[in-house]
Amino acid sequence: MVGSRLEVDLHIATCSGSALQSTVTCANRAGLEVSEGILESIAAAECTLSADERELGVCLLDIGAHSSDLVVFFEGAVAHTASVPIGGAHFTNDLAIGLQMPVAQAEEIKRQYGNAVVTSVPQQAEIEIANPQPQMLRLRSIAEILEPRARELMYYVKESLRQGGVVEALGAGCVLTGGGAMLPGMLDVTESQLRVPARTGMPVRLSHMPGQLVHPGFAVAIGMLLYAHRTRATRAAEDNSFRARLRAMFAATY
Ligand SMILES: Nc1ncnc2c1ncn2[C@@H]1O[C@H](COP(=O)(O)OP(=O)(O)OP(=O)(O)O)[C@@H](O)[C@H]1O
Ligand SMILES: [Mg+2]
Repeated sequence: MVGSRLEVDLHIATCSGSALQSTVTCANRAGLEVSEGILESIAAAECTLSADERELGVCLLDIGAHSSDLVVFFEGAVAHTASVPIGGAHFTNDLAIGLQMPVAQAEEIKRQYGNAVVTSVPQQAEIEIANPQPQMLRLRSIAEILEPRARELMYYVKESLRQGGVVEALGAGCVLTGGGAMLPGMLDVTESQLRVPARTGMPVRLSHMPGQLVHPGFAVAIGMLLYAHRTRATRAAEDNSFRARLRAMFAATY
């Protein structure tokens, strides 16, 4: 077969070289050797998505502390990547301002009693808090602060999907990872805003890995390990087959 033209569709995600170099320098100073860089959302996808989901079309959203990173796979390949500058820290800060309490206390209350859907919280439920003064706090008032932020996050995610032309490509729905995915109600807000099924992305459990690491907040870290292992194994296999072909070529020539 003879061809005269070769075409390829590529999705390229880039970052500032100096930002990447600073991260590598930090890791090196902590005694770690960096083999290569990978986008956070692609790393999280590595250990949470199935091959079927990537084929049908899926959006992985990693909700971190300061940003939420997304990647869309369609027909097995990356079709869209983006970062939305809203993360769990924004939810916490909203609570700290709304309830007039220190950020550390707001963070604890969010983790223990937070919910992103007001109507999921029983109307009469209350907790007693000591700061700023001893008082009873309605659990619904916590959700009333968290829900608009969750909706805002999903609004920007939807806008990004629209700009990327992939809103209709999510046959397998949306998978949430990152610490922010632990907030009860996030799946409901995702489903109602994006109008696709949503699930939490639990990383696969590697051998010798403690059970408490099987948690959506560790998806990026575990995905990075898997990715590094897989690329090393692939390169080693490629090197071996290249050497075998070279040996065969020399044996045939001499
Ligand atoms: N149980 C929980 N309920 C609600 N939010 C939680 C819970 N556990 C952790 N979080 C939130 O998750 C966020 C941290 O998530 P994660 O560890 O994925 O972020 P990160 O990777 O450090 O941040 P980034 O990706 O922005 O650099 C924090 O804002 C924290 O409040
Ligand atoms: Mg993160």
